[in-house]
Amino acid sequence: MTPYGRIKNWLKVRRSFRREARAFLRLNRRYNASCAPEKDIAKLQNLIRREAHTLEKGLSLRAPRHGFGEEKAAHLLGRIDAYVARFGRDGFLDGPLGILANYLEYTENHGIALPSLKKRLAAYDARPADAVVELDAEAVRQSAQGDFDALTASRHSIRYFTPDPVPAAAVDAALAIASRTPSACNRQAWRTHLFTGDRCHALLRWQGGCRGFETEIGTCILVTADRRAFLYYETHQPYVDGGMYAMNLLNALHFKGLGTIPLSCGFEAEKLLGLRDFGIPDYEVPVLVIGIGCMEPHFHVAASVRKPVSETHTQQA
Ligand SMILES: Cc1cc2nc3c(=O)[nH]c(=O)nc-3n(C[C@H](O)[C@H](O)[C@H](O)COP(=O)(O)O)c2cc1C
Repeated sequence: MTPYGRIKNWLKVRRSFRREARAFLRLNRRYNASCAPEKDIAKLQNLIRREAHTLEKGLSLRAPRHGFGEEKAAHLLGRIDAYVARFGRDGFLDGPLGILANYLEYTENHGIALPSLKKRLAAYDARPADAVVELDAEAVRQSAQGDFDALTASRHSIRYFTPDPVPAAAVDAALAIASRTPSACNRQAWRTHLFTGDRCHALLRWQGGCRGFETEIGTCILVTADRRAFLYYETHQPYVDGGMYAMNLLNALHFKGLGTIPLSCGFEAEKLLGLRDFGIPDYEVPVLVIGIGCMEPHFHVAASVRKPVSETHTQQA
């Protein structure tokens, strides 16, 4: 390419990055759930769903902290009050209210009375949901060896494990399975970084989404995608390819009989710079941390009830 062609190309790329940044800002200002959620039923429902899940997740830990969640439950009830005031008491609220009722049942059974929360919840005629499910490891392992439906239905986010080391051969086999993931123009931009022991705990502390159970996890894999694989109009593609890979790896680890917990890397740029301390170069986009462990013979998981497909699917002739 001539020097003139190179300059022309660079200007084109720079213009595109600016356009993308403006579009990103405009769409997020308008549609991100942090922006004016009280006026938008979809944003409010997502916030309520998220906050209810943090309670059911707390209930699913090996030993929930005595008195955990009071502030979160009060906050969630406040959100629900705001939702009802604006949009009415509809069927969507049954799930989150059920989790709150479960939570209050749990705290009461453990000697903690929360009378004001109980009174507020009573106004909504909430029936306890099954926020936590008990599973049998052998049955889970067998289902993972069944058909694809059984495999996906038996994978759960698990938040406590045995102290046994994770068998390296099972992880290696899962990595080999996940390498079959399709990718845009077969670029296979995913990268995986395995951490064990203290390094694993340090990474989990950085991640921050497993407070209360990070010491349960002795092995984790950070999945990233190499930004250098993509062109100026593909700036979101690392998340797509990396996300598809991460899901395949989760299923493959489950297939190999291991328990997993996906942990978010959806953070602000400044926090992401903390990954430099773990030797991750800036050109790698962090996609997901996967905590890995051996399943206890019996264990609990959050129910994480799914929306009906009709709520998430449309069809055009
Ligand atoms: C991208 C992503 C990020 C997640 N981050 C966290 C996290 O930080 N902490 C946590 O406890 N669970 C986390 N989870 C687990 C979800 O809560 C869980 O996948 C969801 O409730 C569905 O439950 P299931 O995985 O048992 O089917 C994450 C899951 C995904 C896919």
